[in-house]
Amino acid sequence: MTTDLQRVFSGIQPSGDIHIGNYLGAVKKWVELSKTHDCLYCVVDDHAITVDFDPVVLSQRTFNAVLTTMACGLDPDDCTIFVQSHVPEHTELTWLFNTITPMGSLFRMTQFKDKARNALQRALDKKQGGARKTALFGLKKIGDTVYKLSEKMNGSLSNINPSEKFTPLMLEEMQKEVMKVNDYMGKILQQLQVGLGVADASCALFDYPVLQAADILLYKASIVPVGEDQEQHLELCREIADRFNKKFGETFPMVSRIKGDAPRILGLDGKNKMSKSLNNYIGILDSKEEIVNRLKSAFTDPARIKRDDPGHPELCNIFSYHKLFGKISDIEEISAECQKGTISCFDCKARLAVTINETLEPIRDRADELGRNPSLVIDALDKGRVRAGNIAKETMIEVKDLMGIGVNSLNKL
Ligand code: AMP
Ligand code: TRP
Repeated sequence: MTTDLQRVFSGIQPSGDIHIGNYLGAVKKWVELSKTHDCLYCVVDDHAITVDFDPVVLSQRTFNAVLTTMACGLDPDDCTIFVQSHVPEHTELTWLFNTITPMGSLFRMTQFKDKARNALQRALDKKQGGARKTALFGLKKIGDTVYKLSEKMNGSLSNINPSEKFTPLMLEEMQKEVMKVNDYMGKILQQLQVGLGVADASCALFDYPVLQAADILLYKASIVPVGEDQEQHLELCREIADRFNKKFGETFPMVSRIKGDAPRILGLDGKNKMSKSLNNYIGILDSKEEIVNRLKSAFTDPARIKRDDPGHPELCNIFSYHKLFGKISDIEEISAECQKGTISCFDCKARLAVTINETLEPIRDRADELGRNPSLVIDALDKGRVRAGNIAKETMIEVKDLMGIGVNSLNKL
């Protein structure tokens, strides 16, 4: 592998099944770039442990993630594939970057706030936790009561016939006040949830974006193929590189994001981003039957209630999948039939299942083959660890020298 090519780095968390969002948002691009660039691809297990996890499940998922990306087309002869925790320099560089990262920048990260709030919500749903969570639970009950009360009061107010005592204007004002109390309560609860979620989150979850910057800069990569959700993390990576370069001397390149075929795919619920944790996905290794089953409950154009209601393909999430997986002629045909109401949502989903399966079948076949020959995966990881480790060691020597730490700095005295 020549090293004068531009360097690419990207990572994927072993936090569940790899899905078609990961594939079209990132992994497919990884495969393309591996033919033309010096690419390092990493299964980021140190990132996955920043939220609750099961050690046995994690190691299996890490192996599966490597196997799946290889099944998608990554070839260890074309790129470096490795596991983050196998190269300890990632966490070492994170510590050094922590010293130049303001906490304020990390507090702005939306993924941190979302993950912290979601973890708290899960604990509240299970009624787990100590005094703070019990207090929040109590407040939530008060919030629900205020909501019910305000609905009742509003109902009663709208039933009062205006008289001399209560003019229509006064009744309207009172209704507005009731709504305001309700709004305030909702906002307070939301803020408290973020606040308490953040207080309960681990330091590691807070530091997650710094570890991501270390991943990329350890290899001085300048190109990062990722989905749109990672843009804020990349901005922080640029901020860290810039601060380091200004304080210790020009060392790291500026990083830019490369888009995949689809920067943000919606999940089967038609509302949220497709994601491993929301279980709203089609897995890259799902069988044909699983694809059919998962699509059955997927959200479509709400205007289509009866079989022959005319539809709006541009508003339908299923049609957005057709556009990503189908042939142009098929896409045009489905669009026309949907608008005329001559194809039912059921049949439209059945056609989509066939199209998605055509893309996934060869990937599944390669995954089966790798599953029968796990040494192919282990050998790729051994080779990857050695190459990534060598580059990482070189960067750490340079960084530590510049920062005046490490054995070398004393030798210079
Ligand atoms: P993760 O599963 O969070 O480790 O994501 C791995 C890669 O897939 C990252 O580059 C993400 O930006 C990308 N990705 C994750 N979910 C989606 C999605 N719904 N649409 C597009 N890209 C995604
Ligand atoms: N945070 C990324 C995600 O959730 C995964 C990741 C970790 C990554 N380190 C990286 C992506 C470095 C690109 C470069 O998808």
